[in-house]
Amino acid sequence: MPGIWELADLITPMAIRTAAHLRLADHLAKAPRAASDLAELTATDEDALTRLLAHLVHIGVLERSGDRYHLTDLGDPLRDDHPDGFRAFADPASMIGRGDLALIHLPHSVKTGEAAYPRLYGADFWADARAQAADYDHQMGLDVSADAPDIADAFDWGSLGHVVDVGGGDGTLLEVLLDRFPELTGQVFDQPATAATAARRLERFGPRASAVAGSFFEKVPAKAGGYLLTAIVHDWDEPKSIAILRTVAEAAGPGGRVFVIEKVTGDQVGTRMNLRILVYMTGKERGVTELAALGTTAGLDHVATHASGSMSVVEFRVP
Ligand SMILES: C[S@@+](CC[C@H](N)C(=O)[O-])C[C@H]1O[C@@H](n2cnc3c(N)ncnc32)[C@H](O)[C@@H]1O
Repeated sequence: MPGIWELADLITPMAIRTAAHLRLADHLAKAPRAASDLAELTATDEDALTRLLAHLVHIGVLERSGDRYHLTDLGDPLRDDHPDGFRAFADPASMIGRGDLALIHLPHSVKTGEAAYPRLYGADFWADARAQAADYDHQMGLDVSADAPDIADAFDWGSLGHVVDVGGGDGTLLEVLLDRFPELTGQVFDQPATAATAARRLERFGPRASAVAGSFFEKVPAKAGGYLLTAIVHDWDEPKSIAILRTVAEAAGPGGRVFVIEKVTGDQVGTRMNLRILVYMTGKERGVTELAALGTTAGLDHVATHASGSMSVVEFRVP
């Protein structure tokens, strides 16, 4: 077990994030290189970069032979083309990287219960995410692509006929569901730039798929067989989550079916994500009992909870 100083140390996380930002792994994936060479390629100060490289060697991300550095297995996910997509998440210039830097204002969030992101950047997370939509949508698409097979396994989505993926991002999840359930048709509902990205991704499905722009605080397309909200309510506090669920319930109409999907199993939530989402946007991780109660408070009937892998699908009906 590391000691308290090691646990509290910010150097290692920031060194890795700086390596991600400078794309050091991409330069080293091609060939081992000397510090002078890397300094030129990354337009950095050679002495300062050498100090960074020394720490990356110390923690096992790089190895040094003679005057050249090369990537270790531990450092390999820092390559931009690595399937985990880690480089982009860790880069302080990306939306998620920016969000993580707001953790320096965690004391503010803990004192007030509010997001720290606006305190650091002067704008809320969603305003910045809209301005960097391509980057944010891509990162969310990578995130949900790992969970999509579990979500597809959790329920017979084809039986719903037509679904609206509310806040469906770049269409990654709907794409997986349409491939798995040939009888299903679907629509992504999201903010304008994101809906446009989803429309392009879903083009190959022809009339089976579409994307529509709007706000889930205002109006959602009506009378679908089912409404999916994946990683949506965890972004919002209770009043806002209830407002979203009410908009969806109104669109679904009596007997309508609403599915709240979150990366949680049981009532134990991830402590890291729970703090991260507070700092970013006053969000909250909720266990399945709390999700069921949230839906009930919004006026929905809780029907069942379906679990698959690391995901839970909490199913509601509109009374
Ligand atoms: C955490 S992402 C989840 C995306 C997708 N469901 C997934 O699982 O990858 C939240 C999504 O909510 C969308 N969103 C945020 N505010 C919105 C609003 N007012 N109306 C519609 N969509 C919104 C964002 O654009 C983003 O795609």
